Amino acid sequence: MRQATSIDDLREMARRRVPRAFFDYVDGGSYSEATLKANRADLQALKFRQRVMVDVSARSTACSILGRAATMPVVLAPTGLTGLVHADGEILAARAAAQVGVPFCLSTMSICSLEQVRAATDTPFWFQLYVMRDRGFVASLLERARQADCPVLVLTADLQVQGQRHRDIRNGLSVPPRLTFRSLLDFACRPRWAMGMLGTANRSFGNLAAYLQSQDLATLSQWIAQQFDPSLSWRDLEWIRSLWPGKLVVKGILDPDDARTAVACGADAVVVSNHGGRQLDHAPSSVSVLAAIAEAVRGKAEVFMDGGVRSGQDVAKALACGADAAMIGRAFLYGLGAGGEDGVRTALEIIRRELDVTLALAGCCSPAELTPRHLHG
Ligand code: FNR
Ligand code: LAC
Repeated sequence: MRQATSIDDLREMARRRVPRAFFDYVDGGSYSEATLKANRADLQALKFRQRVMVDVSARSTACSILGRAATMPVVLAPTGLTGLVHADGEILAARAAAQVGVPFCLSTMSICSLEQVRAATDTPFWFQLYVMRDRGFVASLLERARQADCPVLVLTADLQVQGQRHRDIRNGLSVPPRLTFRSLLDFACRPRWAMGMLGTANRSFGNLAAYLQSQDLATLSQWIAQQFDPSLSWRDLEWIRSLWPGKLVVKGILDPDDARTAVACGADAVVVSNHGGRQLDHAPSSVSVLAAIAEAVRGKAEVFMDGGVRSGQDVAKALACGADAAMIGRAFLYGLGAGGEDGVRTALEIIRRELDVTLALAGCCSPAELTPRHLHG
């Protein structure tokens, strides 16, 4: 792990250690992957203004996110199936985030349950909600998140219908992992991963255990098609707002009008996101629409951004475009696949160091100082 000096290094290690079906699930996007690529390309295209002869001796990456102190403006994005990238992955990522001092967000589609993660860390973590057709079950998830002391609920709005991921179909992605000749061969070639999975009982969706009992979970996409509610609308956000006492975040916003409506319905923050290029293919990159959305809700809500963030430089660019914090999905998942808890911590430390040096070389002492004036053009 000490040899990894960038998120790219961690990705390469994860590619070797994680079975193909789960690595591809993390790495890939929907259809032609045009939006997946645009997220990276548009971040890459932004250039900093280099400012010199500024006293940056007293700088810090620390900030506040939804009223709580963090060591940098970064949040671990909610990701499904994380406990199949590495045994007990959600617990390990939550612990690493707590150690580094940034929030961790648990997905509805996690392998380790809300209660298991709560038992494994004293640091409060966020919960991400998918709205199912069965609203009684949705209400019970909210109650469980409240019982687990989650301070923040993230409602994900952009996956009521799933974008097709060609790689997952080709690989026959299933939960729990299906044992076929091909998958067994693959698992046998990844002994660390396989030993970890043999050593844990957590191999299916922990939050849905009671709900799943009677159902045969063939593929992830079939299950989403059956259970997720495509009728989800702003009225449901008002209903969730009335049930949820903590902070409420709406994730999957790419349009200023939607951002304004989310805030009018009671959201404390929005996440400018195209789900990491995994949903609407040919949607714009997150960073390209960020400034307009930040402008639309300025002073009324916090704005987070995700999609393509792989470095501290990328975090700084997101902040310069108006975000209060960046969420990272794949960047921490590569660390997890590469080295478990230590790998996630390494990913976060790499990003924090890069952000610190970037602030210094752009002539800033804190993340809050970054504005569009720190970018060229
Ligand atoms: C996700 N994402 C996601 N989002 C969400 O709200 N609930 C979820 O369960 C998942 N699951 C998921 C799995 C995997 C493997 C990935 C890569 C992503 C989307 C995630 O929260 C975030 O929006 C993106 O990951 C951001 O893009 P980057 O950082 O991965 O480029
Ligand atoms: C995904 C879902 C689970 O992106 O959010 O795979």
